[in-house]
Amino acid sequence: MKSKRLNQLVDLIPRCDVLADVGCDHGYVGIEALLRNIAQRVLFVDVSEMSLKKARDNTPDDVRFRCKYICRDGLGELEADGAVIAGMGGLEIISILSNAKFLPQTLILQPNRNQKDVRKYLETRYTIDYDRMMYCGGIFYNMIVAVRTDHPVALNELELEFGKTNFVGYNKDFYLYLDKEQVKLKKILNDCNDPEVSAKLSLIERAIAVLGGSK
Ligand SMILES: C[S@@+](CC[C@H](N)C(=O)[O-])C[C@H]1O[C@@H](n2cnc3c(N)ncnc32)[C@H](O)[C@@H]1O
Repeated sequence: MKSKRLNQLVDLIPRCDVLADVGCDHGYVGIEALLRNIAQRVLFVDVSEMSLKKARDNTPDDVRFRCKYICRDGLGELEADGAVIAGMGGLEIISILSNAKFLPQTLILQPNRNQKDVRKYLETRYTIDYDRMMYCGGIFYNMIVAVRTDHPVALNELELEFGKTNFVGYNKDFYLYLDKEQVKLKKILNDCNDPEVSAKLSLIERAIAVLGGSK
């Protein structure tokens, strides 16, 4: 795979019949899901014809008959049991899901921003099975897997802010994130007393305390 982030996305996809790779761009995630037989068929969806062409050109001939290339905004009326929506802002992801006629059974999401808003959207419709931070190429990514449920469970404040399964087991990337944020926010507060920064630091310190304080 082209990067640790893309590889991790593919690793998180459960076996499915139809996978939608929404905002597919190069198409690497959907293509790899086909090559590994995780998905039987893939709908490559992108709002940009130029991006979709990249996915089409990158698809190996021997899996092409299992692919559909669709130039459109979001899922609309498309039906898929799994959907990967990665590498775009959280508000765009929420808009795509809000406008979808059929919500996929499983979502694999990687919002670049507004992760908390995505979790708020998910917590009333999906069970979040996996929500962990990964550090790759100097950037922290939030990787989320959510499964549709009729019995959603609310997240607590720290889970909403940072991701539920970061608090399960040991995730060195999450520790690194908390450490870097704590140093950065303390430095800012040394220069000016900003209540928002202070509130954020308090959340970081609560997360560190929940994890046991040791790094
Ligand atoms: C930065 S790329 C991410 C590509 C790939 N998913 C990844 O994670 O590497 C974002 C892609 O999403 C597409 N996109 C943005 N909003 C979209 C929407 N509402 N519906 C479909 N495609 C969208 C863009 O055209 C672009 O190709």
